[in-house]
Amino acid sequence: MRGHLVELAYLVSVIGFALSLKWMTAVATARRGILAGEIAFGIAIIATLINPAITSTGWFLIIIALALGTLIGIPLGLRVPMTAMPERIALSHAFGALAAGLVGIAHYYLTYHSSNKFETAVLGVEIVLGCLVFTGSLMASGKLHEMLPQRPITFQGQNYFNFVVLGVALVLIIVLTFSPTSTWIVPILVVLGLMFGVLLIIPIGGADMPTVIALLNSYAGLSASALGFVLDNKLLIVAGALDGTSGLVLAIIMCRAMNRSFRNVLFGAFGKLDESTAEAGGEVGNVRSASPDEAAELMKMARSVVIVPGYGMAVAQAQHKVRELADALEKEGVDVRYAIHPVAGRMPGHMNVLLAEANVPYDKLLDMDEINSDFPQVDVVLVLGANDVVNPAARHEKSSPIYGMPILNVDQAQTIMVVKRSMRAGFAGIENELFYNPKTLMVFGDAKQVVSELVIEVSGQRDAISL
Ligand code: TAP
Repeated sequence: MRGHLVELAYLVSVIGFALSLKWMTAVATARRGILAGEIAFGIAIIATLINPAITSTGWFLIIIALALGTLIGIPLGLRVPMTAMPERIALSHAFGALAAGLVGIAHYYLTYHSSNKFETAVLGVEIVLGCLVFTGSLMASGKLHEMLPQRPITFQGQNYFNFVVLGVALVLIIVLTFSPTSTWIVPILVVLGLMFGVLLIIPIGGADMPTVIALLNSYAGLSASALGFVLDNKLLIVAGALDGTSGLVLAIIMCRAMNRSFRNVLFGAFGKLDESTAEAGGEVGNVRSASPDEAAELMKMARSVVIVPGYGMAVAQAQHKVRELADALEKEGVDVRYAIHPVAGRMPGHMNVLLAEANVPYDKLLDMDEINSDFPQVDVVLVLGANDVVNPAARHEKSSPIYGMPILNVDQAQTIMVVKRSMRAGFAGIENELFYNPKTLMVFGDAKQVVSELVIEVSGQRDAISL
């Protein structure tokens, strides 16, 4: 009876996970998606606890583990700033993969006398995947957090060496499959898996880490799914498969948005900083600059304004002020919309999340494909802490690392205002010719500070104060 209840609960959880993924594909339903995922996880945890296979000793240990995990997880979740989310997600993958790897190892040593060939082969793959995602995710998190060098670390014959490591692991899994009692193989598989995780990540530049994290997510899902087959747990099989495929789809979407191929991400070296540009921060060449009050005057006179948020808006946490600015401009009869590039910021949906937090209406957020043909009719574009996603070099500069990446065509608007603190480069580490366009006005300063001043000017608060 209890067994049937558990299976039913697992089925409800699986439906919850699928709905959660579906709802998270649109901004308007994303919150519902998160809630559905949380409820599904809650049901899955309770169902696992009442699973007849769990003994009373198991209960005791699980409750201690749950309490410890909750104690560590809550502050980790609450304290992390939005801009550090990718490295935080990588850490979660590392812990998840470690758990999956350890369960696989424990299961092997408990059952190797009686397990069949299929189970042993799947366990071997699962252990290697769990270990490689563990170290790979730690490396990715370290690179994003700048605790490890962001630049790709390469050596001669690296790809051959990696293939040899992977090849040895595969041969050992085959040997283990036909000789499940060869217990000496598993520790070697663990070491090879941990090594391969490090080897896989070191040649990849920091700029590609978010895509790599999505890929590692996919591997972790595969590992969980494999474990589901071994433990005969349908929930793990389906949830792991959902995780594996969604991670892969996300990685593909990110690669497309950046016009990068998988091969290029895994074996190329993107994101090397152009030191000359980076060092030149603050040095202003032939650019036209404007003060916030001049910028506000131009915006007030415009019929249509498009705000293009980027990573700088996230750093400055300027989203609430941006909403105030849009409200003030709309009061003056200006049509205000937002242009959202798929890889603006540092994680998928970064801008959508921030603007939703500031209660910006969803129908004002336009995707790149929806807004790009409108730019020639737009009077003023306000580029707020965005750089690479509006760099026209992506269209014509074949030697540029962002060549081919679809961009927001802001250079076609009547007037372009760029808010940033200096002339420093963005993520790709390259110059942006948009800043030198005769139609561009640079408004230097912190995004929140500048937008606050724009709000004061547009809403006439300054006049009210001086009266
Ligand atoms: P970036 O090209 O990184 O440019 C951000 C700009 O914001 C910088 O040039 C910086 O200039 C400015 N900035 C930083 N702090 C600021 C502040 N407090 N106030 C005002 N400006 C500030 O950003 P983007 O245009 O959003 O492009 C995203 C980049 O990240 C792309 O290259 C993309 O491929 C990459 N990437 C994105 C993702 C995802 S999924 N979103 C994943 C991997 C890689 P100053 O220092 O001069 O202020």
